[in-house]
Amino acid sequence: MTQHVHSIAVIGGDGIGPEVTAAALEVVQAAGVSFATEQFDLGAARYLRDGFVLDDATLERLRGFDAIMLGAIGPAIGDTRISGGTLERGLLLRMRFGLDLYINYRPFHGVDGSLAQGCDFAVVRENTEGPYAGEGGVLRYGTPHEIATQGSVNTRFGVERCVRYAFERAQRAARPKVTLVHKTNVLTFAGDLWSRVLAEVKLDYPEVEVDYNHVDAACIYLVEDPHRYSVIVTDNLFGDILSDLAGAVTGGIGYAASANINPNKFGASLFEPVHGAAHDIVGTNRANPLAAVSSAVLMLEYLGEDDAAASIARAVRDFEGDVSILGTSGITTQLLERL
Ligand code: IPM
Ligand code: MN
Repeated sequence: MTQHVHSIAVIGGDGIGPEVTAAALEVVQAAGVSFATEQFDLGAARYLRDGFVLDDATLERLRGFDAIMLGAIGPAIGDTRISGGTLERGLLLRMRFGLDLYINYRPFHGVDGSLAQGCDFAVVRENTEGPYAGEGGVLRYGTPHEIATQGSVNTRFGVERCVRYAFERAQRAARPKVTLVHKTNVLTFAGDLWSRVLAEVKLDYPEVEVDYNHVDAACIYLVEDPHRYSVIVTDNLFGDILSDLAGAVTGGIGYAASANINPNKFGASLFEPVHGAAHDIVGTNRANPLAAVSSAVLMLEYLGEDDAAASIARAVRDFEGDVSILGTSGITTQLLERL
């Protein structure tokens, strides 16, 4: 049988991004997966060099790959040369929206010693709508009468496809349960749409239990009783916030992986660790590659490389030792030895 050679666009990006991405690719290779990479020089460093963020032609090229692996994007903290939103909206969100990566899937496993030790749950975050859609604007800018609005876009279509994905995930999870997290008591229009869609989609998944938490309460439960969760489904902004909190209670975002996916496989999906560029530790061998490696596991599952995905996931789970002592190279070496 000839093996499919997966085409992977690699956006190492800024700070520790290239280091953790290189480590992840090394692990993927060792797991016996055939792939060909092409590097894309995008991110803060590129923007500061020549003003380029992302254009239509590059986006179309990215669409043609089987998958995109991204390290981290962003300037060093305190570097004010790039105004907020330039890279977030111009690069990351442009890829998420332009490639219609409508699911942001973030699985969490509570590592030993963490608040959520032993927990397994995932956040399914809607990834193309909500307050991220960019609805709104500003009037009378800079005057005492300035008006800024920032709406939340929730379409029946967008909510339903997200909720359906959450049920599909829950059906295959150890505990078939979907918890909607929202703020239906205040955001009544959007909340009502999400609640009705949840109830309707549930009819197609009789074996999946459903629950609902207000987002503020969910913040308490994630800290005090994270075992209650299996699959959390929520909107773009709540999902952004909850997944950072989930990262913190399960061991830190050094472990948190994410998959920006179009489950219908229209175009390339994008896999990235939840953490940022951490410019302060660049080149010091202190970057933890486990989040990037776990993101690569999600990529391999998406590409249908289930065996390789499972063996890398096992190596990550069995990983032992002090990440701060082992460092990037020590962690990578241990993973390679476990494969
Ligand atoms: C994330 C990040 C992004 C987001 C930023 C960098 C635009 O925080 O992937 O969670 O808000 O989605
Ligand atoms: Mn975030």
